[in-house]
Amino acid sequence: MCGIIGYAGKRNALPVLMEGLSRLEYRGYDSAGIAYVDGNHNHPIHIIKEKGKLIELRRALSLVHATPHIGIGHTRWATHGEPSRRNAHPHLSQDDNFAVVHNGIIENYQEIKSYLKRKGYTFRSETDTEVLVHLVQDEFRGDVLTAFRNAIQRLEGFFAFVLISRHSPNELFFFKRSNPLVVGVGKKENFVASDVPAILPYTKRVVYLGDDEVGCLNEDSFKIVRLKKPTPVQKRIETVPWNLEQAEKGGYHHFMLKEIYEQPRVAEETIRKRLDFNRQRIVFDTLSFHANWRLKHVRKIFMVSCGTAYHAGIAARYMFENIARVPTEVCVSSEFRYSDPILSKSDIVVLVTQSGETADTLAALREARKKGAYTLAIVNVVGSTIAREADCVIYTHAGPEIGVASTKAYTVQLLTLALLALHAGYLRNKIPPKQFEEMLSFAKHIPSDLKKILQEAPRVDQCAKKLYKKHNFIYLARGFSFPNALEGALKLKEISYAHAHGYAAGEMKHGPIALIDKEQPVICIIPQSKTYDKMLSNMEEIKAREGIIVAVATKGDRAVSKFARWTFYVPKTSEFFSTIYTVVPLQLFAYRMAVLNGRDVDQPRNLAKSVTVE
Ligand code: AGP
Ligand code: GLU
Repeated sequence: MCGIIGYAGKRNALPVLMEGLSRLEYRGYDSAGIAYVDGNHNHPIHIIKEKGKLIELRRALSLVHATPHIGIGHTRWATHGEPSRRNAHPHLSQDDNFAVVHNGIIENYQEIKSYLKRKGYTFRSETDTEVLVHLVQDEFRGDVLTAFRNAIQRLEGFFAFVLISRHSPNELFFFKRSNPLVVGVGKKENFVASDVPAILPYTKRVVYLGDDEVGCLNEDSFKIVRLKKPTPVQKRIETVPWNLEQAEKGGYHHFMLKEIYEQPRVAEETIRKRLDFNRQRIVFDTLSFHANWRLKHVRKIFMVSCGTAYHAGIAARYMFENIARVPTEVCVSSEFRYSDPILSKSDIVVLVTQSGETADTLAALREARKKGAYTLAIVNVVGSTIAREADCVIYTHAGPEIGVASTKAYTVQLLTLALLALHAGYLRNKIPPKQFEEMLSFAKHIPSDLKKILQEAPRVDQCAKKLYKKHNFIYLARGFSFPNALEGALKLKEISYAHAHGYAAGEMKHGPIALIDKEQPVICIIPQSKTYDKMLSNMEEIKAREGIIVAVATKGDRAVSKFARWTFYVPKTSEFFSTIYTVVPLQLFAYRMAVLNGRDVDQPRNLAKSVTVE
């Protein structure tokens, strides 16, 4: 969680830091702050910080007339100490010569705090962060980088830091372990940030830092060394494949809405990259000969992920078992890592993650590797930690997803996993060639079908207008649609704060049916499928108890309208791909419900885009 930015160059650092923070605000937004030095060690470090969203900091900054050329900024998602001005970053050392911003958790901070207190240090905040900055002061013997390295070596946990110092007023110091940090390389200016969009207006040239790499930069150059050994690490400068427009709202009210509407385009991009219609083949350019061999001979697949990506994992289980006939187990990352999973060398652990930085998924990846399983990461953010640590990576190419509620990343995960399952089925000789061709022609229609689904928006609005005051929702589905019962409910909870629960519809009579009365809305996902009739019976049971039914059904389906008060239609497709379709009206519904309730759609309370703490 939390966004970090640092700048050294010719520009006025303050607007650069603020612009960067506004692009990182999705990572945390309970307080924010910046620190700067104005290039002269006789001058103090200035700190401005405020509780609340970035707008508060912007207000405070409007009274500042300095034009420094070096500074750091932070937007916080509190782990230690309440969100307040006092606990907001940057934090200053006792002698006011160092200021630091931090992402992550210092696990042994209590122990270090006691040690520092015994030495006479006093603490101004309740954060774990503050111990680092006092430790740097304590270790300082004339060289900031050495003091920074020595201090970090005493810490346990996962974190990223950026530090400035009066002792070296033209430099920024940075460190990364598990939590993301990239260096942006410009002309006569350099940057460091938690995520690429923060520096995209200035440069597309980046260096992805590895774990336990520490370094410093000024406006002309950067240097990276290892934490334990100060010999320079040679790093490659890479060019980011995104442009600025992709990281902006582009006329939409919210990033989430823009990202929902981007789904046809990103699906098209995925199809273009992955399908070779001339040769009737699926192409995964990053799957090596060895990776394909593993897939062909795999004994069991474990899908491991969190939140929305976990729902993609559930969908993948249906896909892999159905078409590639591989036994597939689905696990939440936080459970997998502590469950002592039984893994063999012929198993593949698939880690699904938008950010590629989720702490539990990263730990699960490391656990799987330790146990000798082959690891395959399905990741959206290029160069992220999980992408780099897995044995093999497939990128989802959804472009930057800024809205906290995941939408386009999920649909592209579903599409990529569906194509991977088909590819595995092909390698394992489980799909007759005719069926394979048929599936490819269904896939071809996905982008244009997604466009048609978005045309349901007015109908979704009408329904939301009637239901937005309700506080409890049930989502029901079966088979390939079941993950969307969970996903639809999660979307609604996350951004509208209404309680919503997703169930496998067959479970209804085992408990949830007790909730149904004439006040209870039930969202039934019922595309054409093997379980269509069973789902229709569920609807009949709800109707008999006067529940308010909203359906997601296949275009032309008249039967559902007998039961449903509102129906959102999706075009006909193969059941195998239907998960990609039925989620879209549910995203639109959650979005409208949140807007009508006046919620902060892109930055819902208590959440952050990437969960880099346990
Ligand atoms: C989705 O809307 C969420 N905010 C959240 O559940 C998310 O999917 C989860 O934290 C996993 O993130 P990742 O894909 O970056 O690993
Ligand atoms: N642990 C630190 C704090 O609570 C940093 C949290 C963050 O990553 O924003 O302030």
